[in-house]
Amino acid sequence: MKKIILTGDRPTGKLHLGHFVGSLSNRVELQNSGEYDDIYIMIADAQALTDNADNPDKVRENIIEVALDYLSCGIDPEKSTIFIQSYVSELTELAFYYMNLVTVQRLQRNPTVKAEIQLRGFAENGEAEDNLQRKGTPVGFFTYPISQASDITAFRATTVPVGADQEPMLEQTREIVHKFNATYGPTLVEPEIMLPKNSACMRLPGTDGKAKMSKSLGNCIYLSDSAADVKKKVMSMYTDPDHLRIEDPGKVEGNCVFTYLDAFSRPEHFAKYCPDYENLEAMKEHYRRGGLGDVKCKKLLIAVLEELLAPIRERRSYYEQHIEDVYEILKRGSDRARATAAATLEDVRRAMRINYFEDSELIARQAEQFRK
Ligand code: TRP
Repeated sequence: MKKIILTGDRPTGKLHLGHFVGSLSNRVELQNSGEYDDIYIMIADAQALTDNADNPDKVRENIIEVALDYLSCGIDPEKSTIFIQSYVSELTELAFYYMNLVTVQRLQRNPTVKAEIQLRGFAENGEAEDNLQRKGTPVGFFTYPISQASDITAFRATTVPVGADQEPMLEQTREIVHKFNATYGPTLVEPEIMLPKNSACMRLPGTDGKAKMSKSLGNCIYLSDSAADVKKKVMSMYTDPDHLRIEDPGKVEGNCVFTYLDAFSRPEHFAKYCPDYENLEAMKEHYRRGGLGDVKCKKLLIAVLEELLAPIRERRSYYEQHIEDVYEILKRGSDRARATAAATLEDVRRAMRINYFEDSELIARQAEQFRK
């Protein structure tokens, strides 16, 4: 069986270092491994609209940002198909059929949807909307796991590299695949989730030490940040609030600078930028003991991040000067994606026996039946 990857992002903002460690770097590795027959990377604009219906311009403006971030990180349009979800209208048709295979009750149990409904302050399922100040949950938002099952199955994806929060979506997709195949005959491919390898550092905290980098918290380092921005953000990063004087002992746990060094530094960085220490362990040891100031650690982190971000920034500035070409890449990718999804949809319609016009047996039989 072919090995096919499908994954994607909602275009609601620029991508940041959290996305890089959590997914982008892994995608580039998978792409360059040569182990996969096809790789589809989707800009999920239709899914972004499920809770941004009143703000399509936000989605519209961020499509190019996400595309630039992909390309600048090394997603190669010759090897991976980057496409726009809404352009592949077959996906919505598939979702409409899958909706018959999922119950409202099952959707209500989806823990990610539950959490996201709460996060957005939508009224809970079952609550009477007119008694509440809060807005109800858009049906499109509530059902997005089904749409996501379409995204995955349309491309016959075997492998879906995503964060742990997407596990319930994959579970729901697999259920839909089982139900579909059991009801209509073997048609759809069952996908596997591929979680980030190193879950410890994969969830990168924000620069303020909060659990997650998030645009709304204003604690992100963006892949498109300038060197000056990165420097400023690192210099004001959350460290150990009790480490007041250099000679005080310091804590490295929960100290952002060290969490980031855990995620990004390698021993050769020390030889290059901070030869006082052989490796990160030695630096941490000194910090714990006391006598090592934050600034020295921050300077190292800035150098390490610059080594990572400078080439990304350089590729980005190339593509920023060639925006028409980027749209052409998206258009070509979307055309290619559409052809794949259309082939799957054809199989689905045949399996569901709603392919009336190509069923000459049906037409002949009924012609006979009604002629009598
Ligand atoms: N829900 C994903 C996210 O918020 C984006 C997404 C949409 C996706 N469709 C997908 C991811 C299909 C993987 C496969 O990040």
